[in-house]
Amino acid sequence: MDKKTSTKFVISFMAALVAISLVLAWVMGRNYSKDTSKERKRIAEQVKALEDGSYTVDLSRGERLYGQFCMRCHGVDGQGSASAPTLVNSPALTASDEVLVKILSNGMKGKIERSGRKYDLVMPGFKMIPAIDLAHVSNYIRTKFSKNSEEVTLKDVLETKLKSVERKKAWTPQELNIPVKN
Ligand code: HEC
Repeated sequence: MDKKTSTKFVISFMAALVAISLVLAWVMGRNYSKDTSKERKRIAEQVKALEDGSYTVDLSRGERLYGQFCMRCHGVDGQGSASAPTLVNSPALTASDEVLVKILSNGMKGKIERSGRKYDLVMPGFKMIPAIDLAHVSNYIRTKFSKNSEEVTLKDVLETKLKSVERKKAWTPQELNIPVKN
């Protein structure tokens, strides 16, 4: 190969690489949006299938779920630890259902101060917990750790999930509009 041909060869090789990566990026981007629309459809169908009153609070199931998923960070009595704030009288429990469900689904991060202790950590989200169990654990922590015992229904959970289906990151207290310090 003379010099000219090999330069041509290198240039066309690079052009092919660029083209391939563009196609790959496009395909991956399409799959990504397809996935969330599938998820959206799945949740919308669940909402539609719900009949009025089809959710019943189950606090003992909520307590078991708390023990399984939350206690290692938030403590037996929700009193918190170095790795998580106390849930006792947490402003997240007296905020709207939507705020609570958002925290449980996607987690939370950012600076907060609770009962005189400062935190700047990340709580993981619990997307894998079925919606009905998110309702049970929400109702358990609300009744157990706050004065707010207003029921979070399965429909509330599904509707919030539907609204934030594209959300991947943890929520910040600013986005949730809950106080940074209490
Ligand atoms: C790996 C540790 C960990 C686990 C497990 C965990 N959390 Fe958290 N949680 C945190 C941290 C850390 C924060 C605060 C994040 C920050 O610093 O902004 C938090 C914040 C919260 C808040 C908001 C508190 C407030 O006053 O702002 C609620 C409510 C909550 N968690 C509930 C739960 C529930 C319910 C579970 C179980 C389903 C759970 N957490 C599991 C670590 C955890």
